[in-house]
Amino acid sequence: MADRGRMVALVREQADACALLGSPFYEYLLQRLADDIEAGGPAYDVLRGHEDDPGPSALALRLMGGVHRLVLERRAPALALTFPSVGGSGDPNAAWTALRPVLSEFAEELRVGLAQPPQTNEVGRSAALIGGLLHLTADHDRPLRLVEIGASAGLNLRADLFRVELADGRSVGPATSPVVLRDPWRGPLPPLRARLEVVERLGCDVAPLDPTTPQGRLLLTSYVWPDQLSRLERLRGALELARDVPATVVAAGAGDFLDGLELRDGSTTVVWHSVMWQYLDPAERARAEAAIERLGARSSGTARFAHLAMEARRRTPGADHELLVTLRTWPGGTEQVLGRAKAHGLPTTWEIP
Ligand SMILES: C[S@@+](CC[C@H](N)C(=O)[O-])C[C@H]1O[C@@H](n2cnc3c(N)ncnc32)[C@H](O)[C@@H]1O
Repeated sequence: MADRGRMVALVREQADACALLGSPFYEYLLQRLADDIEAGGPAYDVLRGHEDDPGPSALALRLMGGVHRLVLERRAPALALTFPSVGGSGDPNAAWTALRPVLSEFAEELRVGLAQPPQTNEVGRSAALIGGLLHLTADHDRPLRLVEIGASAGLNLRADLFRVELADGRSVGPATSPVVLRDPWRGPLPPLRARLEVVERLGCDVAPLDPTTPQGRLLLTSYVWPDQLSRLERLRGALELARDVPATVVAAGAGDFLDGLELRDGSTTVVWHSVMWQYLDPAERARAEAAIERLGARSSGTARFAHLAMEARRRTPGADHELLVTLRTWPGGTEQVLGRAKAHGLPTTWEIP
């Protein structure tokens, strides 16, 4: 028999995670959803049949992504009045009152939407990327080819065009950028320079989203939690940039994509990735690692290669996982831990003096 109790427990777990990651609005709504599933209400009518979905499929976030899309498209006006992402009050109690009838009215559409895995592209993670590129170019000052695996919509392939504003008034990046990272760094600052020079923007993802289409923009926005206004502001700025600044994100797995990558004379090719390594199976990880070693071995004085990452790692066996920002450069391929970041990139704490 389908285990509704397990579904309730998973939705409550997700509510706790939302609380921990700074979304009290979703915490409250997910707790009410869990109550409603328990009582066999309209939330259960939408989710029925998914009792055995694996935990990591994040069923509750799939559902809330569909709900958020209705809000963003202004198709659920009473609910929109409560969603901060569209200027609503943020009153979670009023949101739940408005959400219940929406679950019934749009049940079929919400059910279909459950097939879409939540997909985000965290612009805040460019705080780690930009600082890493500043460290790299302090030693290897050449035009950069920015190459991202697991790039999602490729928004961070425009990171050189984001602006970093430091607490002391200094800044990196164009003054008119629609993306501003305010006071994003802790610890010893990376070597600052006014601008980074990126001459090519290229990436891959198994499920790339196109940030230049209404559908791509809607999907990306719908999975950002609606009371996280700074994340939404960064996302909207990056979507604006993406309209004007092209980047290529091909539909490919990291292994295949890196196998086909070549270095170019006169530039440093930087392979960058954030919060994607955990999705690779062991065989693809091994392939990606081998490709990175191969590119490193081909690196020369004229065609350089570097590997920059922000991924969950343990510093020593048995230590807790941290989102470490690491940089490998060749010749040698020595790895440096540059710093550590929070889940959405902000702040990034640098550790290299
Ligand atoms: C958590 S998201 C992070 C996206 C982006 N790197 C960021 O930090 O915003 C993980 C991304 O990895 C992609 N992905 C999962 N498996 C992959 C694979 N084998 N090769 C390439 N991309 C993959 C997913 O489609 C998703 O876009």
